[in-house]
Amino acid sequence: MKNYQGIVFDLDGVICSTDRFHYLAWKKLADRLGIPFDEQVNNRLRGVSRMDSLEIILEKSPRTYTQEEKEKFAEEKNAAYRELLGEMSPADLSVEVRDTLDTLRFRGYLLAIGSSSKNTPFILERIGLGNYFDAVSDGNNISHSKPDPEVFLKGAEMIGLDPEVCAVVEDAHAGVEGAVRGGFACAAMGDARDDPRAQWHLNSFSDLKDIFL
Ligand code: BG6
Ligand code: MG
Repeated sequence: MKNYQGIVFDLDGVICSTDRFHYLAWKKLADRLGIPFDEQVNNRLRGVSRMDSLEIILEKSPRTYTQEEKEKFAEEKNAAYRELLGEMSPADLSVEVRDTLDTLRFRGYLLAIGSSSKNTPFILERIGLGNYFDAVSDGNNISHSKPDPEVFLKGAEMIGLDPEVCAVVEDAHAGVEGAVRGGFACAAMGDARDDPRAQWHLNSFSDLKDIFL
């Protein structure tokens, strides 16, 4: 195998599980606006930025909204979402994830985050990983969301590595696409596990220990 030196991790659905919170917060907004919203629509939001997610939800709206209204809706959803995130604690970081990250670090890999979420610093803080990663590239430092590769390219740049020697770990099809477009090898898990564009298909996060030796 190639000599990989760094790993860029997606956050939501890879390091921790925030799916339910996203769902509940979007559902609250959709219900208020009288827009049908279910788990199936929620699945389409995985890896997609907040504003792009809102556009997907509004596809089923009987009326159109101005940009200003849309920004208010996104803020409303985020306030509800952050309230739910406030309930998270280091107990929401699984032993499996923590142990795998520690093992990879011990083996000498540089570890970065590549997430579309603007709440990344808050979430990392909540689960006790506030200062853990060598670099954090997130929704606050990019202008193009996944499937654009920007967030991963910036993450690799922050740890001083070329994409060719970095792998990306993703649970969203949009993220796998972004990784591959950016020239990264990708380990896919969860919803995106069987994505044929990924080089590795993980049944579990700890499978990474058998890949990056
Ligand atoms: C991604 C999630 O990590 O972040 C998406 O998978 C979410 O569902 C996106 O829309 C943006 O998150 P935030 O926290 O900036 O609203
Ligand atoms: Mg994800």
